[in-house]
Amino acid sequence: MTDEQAAMNPYEGFKLLRDHAPVTQLEEGGPWQVARHADVHAILRDHETFSSEVSIRPPEERGAPSMLFSDPPVHHRLRRLVSVAFKPSQIQKQEEQIRERCKDLLDAVPAQTEFDLVQALAAPLPVMVIAEMLGVEDGDMATFKAWSDEIFSNIGEILFGTPSAESERAAEEMNAYFLGRIDEIRNHPREHLLGQLVATETEDGKLDDEELLSFCRLLLIAGNETTTGLITASARIFHEHPQTLARLKSQPELSASFVEEALRYYSPFSATVRRTTKSVEIAGQTIAAGELVVPLIASANRDERVFDAADTFQIDRSPNQHLGLGFGIHVCLGAHLARLEGKIVAEQMAQRFRSVTLTQPKTATVGELGGPKELMVIVR
Ligand code: HEM
Repeated sequence: MTDEQAAMNPYEGFKLLRDHAPVTQLEEGGPWQVARHADVHAILRDHETFSSEVSIRPPEERGAPSMLFSDPPVHHRLRRLVSVAFKPSQIQKQEEQIRERCKDLLDAVPAQTEFDLVQALAAPLPVMVIAEMLGVEDGDMATFKAWSDEIFSNIGEILFGTPSAESERAAEEMNAYFLGRIDEIRNHPREHLLGQLVATETEDGKLDDEELLSFCRLLLIAGNETTTGLITASARIFHEHPQTLARLKSQPELSASFVEEALRYYSPFSATVRRTTKSVEIAGQTIAAGELVVPLIASANRDERVFDAADTFQIDRSPNQHLGLGFGIHVCLGAHLARLEGKIVAEQMAQRFRSVTLTQPKTATVGELGGPKELMVIVR
């Protein structure tokens, strides 16, 4: 999108792209952005033509591969080793704890006074959940959150350029912390996710220390800001469509489909990136081998060619073929967890509040990766 398009509601910009320029390059030699659902879907499905090995940093500088940025067979090996821990039956075990955490955070928010929902709930909840999975003690939570923010804020640079000194320092400190934990776990096995991963041994072998650290970093990058974005998106929806909150209050069983529609309507993982392995044609546009392609997930999810009344929030939309959690071999590994957290937050907010009002709706942007860094609200 051009700056001018981005300055307006990004969804208006996305519509212009879908209708008039479904495959465009922002500048000569730059990445190609792809706006329609059918094309985004085709890219995510075809990992042979659209590689996830997008980094231009030399292999010796990249460290252990992360599954998000690798292709088969490396991707399959890593994903198979960790996927057991993300099965619905495993995630379900966390439900009570997530409910408790969410309840405690909501108990602490002020009634009838403006506060920042990101600070109060949307940021700490996902960090607490991932920290618990990785066995981070409560006392280390603030440091863990600071590392997480630093590493995420620098993701573009980590992949495509030179990471900042701060993010390198954060990554080093976090690595040292987790190496210590991994050592402890080897002597005293633990049940949490990191404990399971240290112990996992299958026909694919074991995860070595570097791979374990890389996976810890990946969880921070892939699971934190995105879930924060889902929570802020839910609050924005309650503000823009107050009947949704009322409906959830009277029909809590709609919370699962509320989450699906929120993932579609304000997709927190708004875009991803691939590199072409061969020359390919998308919507009549030829793209040479080795080019970067950016599937605009948030745009695909508003494509009127696929969704009836695409710009309307329909709490019980069915079918809902959104791509908010990705598609194909890289489909979100944390999907069950993301859905569970989204559902718990929506249910608890609907139970407690009659209204959720954004006090500065214009300054809180949508359509970026993750979501706004601040979301001032009043709840009643
Ligand atoms: C609402 C919250 C979330 C959203 C919208 C989201 C979205 C996505 C999307 C779109 C992808 C695919 C990216 C691509 O194809 O390039 C992805 C992958 C991934 N997600 Fe999520 N995610 C969320 C929460 C989580 C959580 C909570 C975790 C873990 C704790 C997680 C872990 C991962 C991992 C490890 C991958 C890489 C999978 C692979 O490469 O095979 N995500 N996510």
